[in-house]
Amino acid sequence: MTKKRILSGMRPTGPLHLGHWLGALKNWVELQDKYLCFYMIADWHALMSEYADPQEIKKNIKECLLDWLSVGINPEETTIFIQSAVKEHAELHLLLSMISPLAWLERCPTYKEQLRELKTRDISTYAYLGYPVLQAADIVLYKADAVPVGKDQLPHLELTREIVRRFHHFYGKTFPEPEPILTETSKLMGLDNRKMSKSYNNFIALADPPAVINEKVMTMITDTKRVKRRDKGHPHLCNVFSYQEIFNPKEAQEIKDACQRGLGGCTECKKILVRTLNKFLSGFRAKRKNWEIKPKKLEEILQRGNEQAKDVAAKTLIDVRKKMGLS
Ligand code: TRP
Ligand code: SF4
Repeated sequence: MTKKRILSGMRPTGPLHLGHWLGALKNWVELQDKYLCFYMIADWHALMSEYADPQEIKKNIKECLLDWLSVGINPEETTIFIQSAVKEHAELHLLLSMISPLAWLERCPTYKEQLRELKTRDISTYAYLGYPVLQAADIVLYKADAVPVGKDQLPHLELTREIVRRFHHFYGKTFPEPEPILTETSKLMGLDNRKMSKSYNNFIALADPPAVINEKVMTMITDTKRVKRRDKGHPHLCNVFSYQEIFNPKEAQEIKDACQRGLGGCTECKKILVRTLNKFLSGFRAKRKNWEIKPKKLEEILQRGNEQAKDVAAKTLIDVRKKMGLS
């Protein structure tokens, strides 16, 4: 039986962090055995908000690839590619935009939210409104059966499914209606107790070296009610403890007991977390180092991935052009 297909993507807007790992990459790695996977570096999507600083995107593409390889995305079984290297995405985006009602895009909750909240970029552009149309093109170009996404991306996937149904209504059945594979939203907060995000600069990057991990963990806010070392703590109110539960489940109970009885101090507790995180990240670091010294291999991976993706995309477009009366 042929494997079902998956497509997913990330925008190369900065270093990948523990939130990306828990919320997406961990799942991406596991899905590789069961599905035929296409993982895409969505540089055109990144450009939609970062157009004023395109050189950053270029740098981030390399880093993104290294991050993916370091966590175990396997280029031998998975197609890793760059969106802008496969021009078919642009053509399909244009063609799908013909049948994408303005009202669907304007009422998209992520669009409304970003317009309201993204104050550091001007995204009141023609392109940004069409963000989900390009995403739909990304997905159906590979006839993906499923898309691993976090909850925040569900509206985009629903729009993709609506566009697919509308396409079928006009031109006949062509694509699978892609199903979401939902990743549990990560309970991991950033260093300052807000959502872990590049824009808050409160993240622990997958590529952070041990000294940086130490520095960052030491700045974490703990149980604010615990002033003196002997005070009884409330682990469920402490961000350091949520990290312990996720990354150090074996010792978490012991840490909780000590904290609640006012025995262990927060500095010690943080030191344990530093040790745990460094142990957790050491596997990624080793792999990363191994890839970093092979820049030619990295080039080859992208080149091969781009070609593989292009093969599939070109076939889909031949069919789409025919159905839309273009050939
Ligand atoms: N919009 C996605 C994000 O910000 C990235 C993305 C682009 C994507 N194209 C995709 C995700 C196709 C899934 C499928 O995370
Ligand atoms: Fe948090 Fe650990 Fe301090 Fe308890 S001992 S408040 S779990 S940092």
